[in-house]
Amino acid sequence: MKLFVYHTPELTPTDHLPECAIAVDVLRATTTIATALDSGAEAVQVFSDIQKLMDVSTEWPEDQRLRFGERGGAKVEGCDLGNSPLSCTPEVVKGKRIFMSTTNGTRALQRVEAAKSVITGALINRQSVVNYITSHEPESIWIVGSGWEGQFSLEDTVCAGAIAHSLLTEFPLSSAVSEVNDEVIAAIALYRQWQEDLVELLQQASHGKRLLSLNGIEDIEYCAQLDSVHVLPIQKEPGVLVSHH
Ligand code: MLT
Repeated sequence: MKLFVYHTPELTPTDHLPECAIAVDVLRATTTIATALDSGAEAVQVFSDIQKLMDVSTEWPEDQRLRFGERGGAKVEGCDLGNSPLSCTPEVVKGKRIFMSTTNGTRALQRVEAAKSVITGALINRQSVVNYITSHEPESIWIVGSGWEGQFSLEDTVCAGAIAHSLLTEFPLSSAVSEVNDEVIAAIALYRQWQEDLVELLQQASHGKRLLSLNGIEDIEYCAQLDSVHVLPIQKEPGVLVSHH
């Protein structure tokens, strides 16, 4: 098994894909996707383009859909909600298809959507990601951070480190990992340094600061809760994520 971490979608190789890709956007797209599916959403369908989201979602019955749109941390006009995981209560999302477009997270998913299996990871569902990998043992795995507009982000890298740390140190699988890139080692070091204080790390991240300026402290605290939600979002068709059973 080969394990690679890429800090942004732009840093991934362009000539091949892994057997399993894990898209990560801790603040907040993949945290919101996990929460929505855990609360009973039918599926989350992601778009990089807001207009396309509007066009496709219009064909869906109005009482069975929700439009989530975020740019720069704020809600997009014309959408039902922004991208806060705290909005995803069962009362709001149960049985609904969520049409989602966010600044970076949905682009990361699009970059890897042709991989054999595509799952999403966040701090809140780290354990479910690790359980999936240990039971399926894919030959090659990419953990792809969303970053922020092409730049490195602390929160996605610490999550990549949390997943890699668990895969490499806590499971018998560690002996099955034959190759890692340097980013795996660096991500694990970041996680080890901050594992007891993830809320503080997220507040120091540039997007954490952006969310704080938009009154997002409760979102940050929620996004930092390691292993708190037991759901695995998995792609069932390009761009459509459902809960893995
Ligand atoms: C993104 O995709 O860039 C994020 O999820 C932004 C956010 O809503 O916090």
